Order: sequence, then structure tokens, then C-alpha cells
Amino acid sequence: MTMTSRQGVPRIVARSNKQSVRDEVLRGLHAEPKTLPPKLFYDAVGAELFEEICDLPEYYLTRAELEILRARAGEIAELAGPQVALLEYGSGAGVKIRLLLDALESPAAYVPIDISREQLERVATELAAEYRDVAVRPLNADYTRPHTVPDLPVRSRRVAFFPGSTIGNFHPMEAVAFLSRVRRVVGKDGALILGVDRRKGVAVLNAAYDDSAGVTAKFNLNMLKVLNHDVGARFDLDKFRHRAFFNSSASRVEMHLVSTEAQTVKVADELVDFEKGESIWTESSYKYDRARLEELVDTAGFRIRKLWTNAKRQFWVVYLEAV
Ligand code: AVI
Repeated sequence: MTMTSRQGVPRIVARSNKQSVRDEVLRGLHAEPKTLPPKLFYDAVGAELFEEICDLPEYYLTRAELEILRARAGEIAELAGPQVALLEYGSGAGVKIRLLLDALESPAAYVPIDISREQLERVATELAAEYRDVAVRPLNADYTRPHTVPDLPVRSRRVAFFPGSTIGNFHPMEAVAFLSRVRRVVGKDGALILGVDRRKGVAVLNAAYDDSAGVTAKFNLNMLKVLNHDVGARFDLDKFRHRAFFNSSASRVEMHLVSTEAQTVKVADELVDFEKGESIWTESSYKYDRARLEELVDTAGFRIRKLWTNAKRQFWVVYLEAV
């Protein structure tokens, strides 16, 4: 699978590793509750659907983050200082990174890190041509696993960029583990610019993940198509429906695929039974308040230097310094 996205989606799809995807899928479908990893959303169709989601009236996240980056790139650049080596986790189509590169004083290097080689190489080539004084050093890696960063200009300060609220797709323990790894990569003088979706009213959150045009429903159901194609499953998409809701006690939006009838589905060489109404949990999207955000970043070895929100106070871009 390949994917393109303007947001920093966790692209962990290992085409070369079909066996491990198959094992992971079967483990998830035999678990209680049944779960599948969100990385399976993003084949080419899923990536396009996600692009559509970003433009939906209900899905405020992308617009809110861009509003903040446009308004605050200068302030962010001032905090980062000159000669920065910018590392982007899950490099997107390059819209957000351009805002930062344009604002920074003599950025020394840009390291886009992504599992999708195609997208990575394309964006790296474009940016290298546009920003001739910046050393563009793409890293084709699964950023959720340990990875070695390419050699960077010696005196440059490392600043990581993880936009799009992708941190919200990690469960809290995984989020701490990931941010701790970023902290080790940027070092004691480093920083992280993080996009975080704020906790807000249930109606707004539910609508953002269950839009009236049904695009998020298609995006969710597309995961079953991916399984049919990639692991030889036999899901009938008409026998599942999209469900998304804000789980207030866990502070996360959950997305599920609910079986509309009792059924048995062949997945690879195994059979998976579904009761009527039983669901597959496909994604969590954690929403942060200030206290939870502080707890998360403290545990990972960062402190909040500055945070900015948009006019409607929906989203944060946070500048974190290593401690
Ligand atoms: C990629 N990620 C930040 C999106 C989110 O909001 O959690 C994925 C998404 N799922 C449904 N809509 C968008």
C-alpha cells in the first residue's frame, strides 16, 4: 500500500511485510474487543478519502492547525532560532513544512521521515529544488520504531515537527513512548512543534468523525476493502456500518465498524465470527486538555514553552523544549 496525505498520518504500511500484516490482522480480529490498526486505512483510496475528510465542514482540525501555523510561523521561528535542522515525522504533501521553512532563519536541514518511499522522495525532491540552501535528507522509516537519523550539519539545533493531531491516534502509553523517542533524537537542546486537538463539546467531536456527507464512513469501511485486497479477506461491506462517538471518560473519539448481522467472515485461512451488533474498533483519536497534555509531555522529557490556539479555540500548536 502507498499513501499520500497532507497531514502527518502514521504510515506504517509495510507492503513487503504482508505476512506480519496478516498476523496482526488475525490477532486483532480474535482479540476481545476486536481491533484493527488505523494504519490499514491508508491505501491509495483511503489516502484520498482522508484528503476529502480534511476539507469537510465538520472536520475542523486541518483548517484550525493551518490557521495557527500561518499566524504564528514567525513566532515559532523566533523560538527555534537560526540554523535549525527540522525533522518532520510523517512528512505530508509539504504544505505545513513550507510555512515553517519560509519563516525560519537560514534553516540548515530538513529531514522528512516517512514509511511511504514514493511520497517521501517526491516531496524531498520538490523541497530540495525550492530550498537550495537547506540540506534535504529524507529518511524512509517507520517512525514508530527505533530509527537512525541521517548525519546533520554539526552546529544545527534539532527541531522535530509532528503536526495534524496524529499524536491523538496513539494510545497514551504509546504516545509517551513515541515522544520519548523524539526527545532522544532531538537531544537536550532540541525542541518539538506538536499539533494537538483540544478536548471540546461532544456534538462537535461526533460530527467531525461522522460527517453528514458520509466520507468518514467510507474511509472507515475502506479498511475492509484493504483487508479483502491485501490479506485475502472476504468482508461484505454492506454488512458493516460506521460508528464514531466521543468516549468522554477516556477522552477519545472511537471509530468502529459494526456488524449489522451475525456472520462468519473468512480472513486469510481463518474464520472470524461476528455477533449482530459486534464491532471492530478501528481507531482512537485522543483529545487533550491542558492538564493531560502537560502530563504527557512531562513524562516524555519535554516542557511547554509556548502554545497557540485558533480563533475558535479548537486546536493547539505547541512548542515544546527538551528538559
Ligand atoms: C490522522 N488522524 C489525525 C485523523 C484523526 O482525526 O484522528 C484520522 C481520522 N480519522 C477519522 N477522521 C480522520
